[in-house]
Amino acid sequence: MTNIKKHAKARHVIIKIELMPAKINVYIKDNGCGFNIESVKPGSGGSGYGLVGMRERIQLLKGAINILSEHGKGTEINFWIPLQNE
Ligand SMILES: Nc1ncnc2c1ncn2[C@@H]1O[C@H](COP(=O)(O)OP(=O)(O)OP(=O)(O)O)[C@@H](O)[C@H]1O
Ligand SMILES: [Mg+2]
Repeated sequence: MTNIKKHAKARHVIIKIELMPAKINVYIKDNGCGFNIESVKPGSGGSGYGLVGMRERIQLLKGAINILSEHGKGTEINFWIPLQNE
């Protein structure tokens, strides 16, 4: 949401949080300016700490994240985190 406020210039944002017995799914979609995902891959030098930090935290929690974005077509972030054990 901070990235959307800071970068996206979006008019609409959809947030879905789905609580399942064994996992939580989160989906966030904006209709803003989008960006080139390749340019913010770790090591590319183009990224801040936001997306890298999200990936790291989700990895530590043994979940998964998928980011789809394209210039002019907005951004979709989908991640899930397992809830079992802890
Ligand atoms: N929702 C979005 N819409 C448009 N561009 C985005 C969006 N999210 C991320 N970006 C682009 O991806 C880049 C990397 O995002 P990231 O959160 O990693 O870094 P940052 O926001 O620039 O810096 P920080 O999060 O460290 O303050 C951003 O600089 C921006 O260009
Ligand atoms: Mg950020």
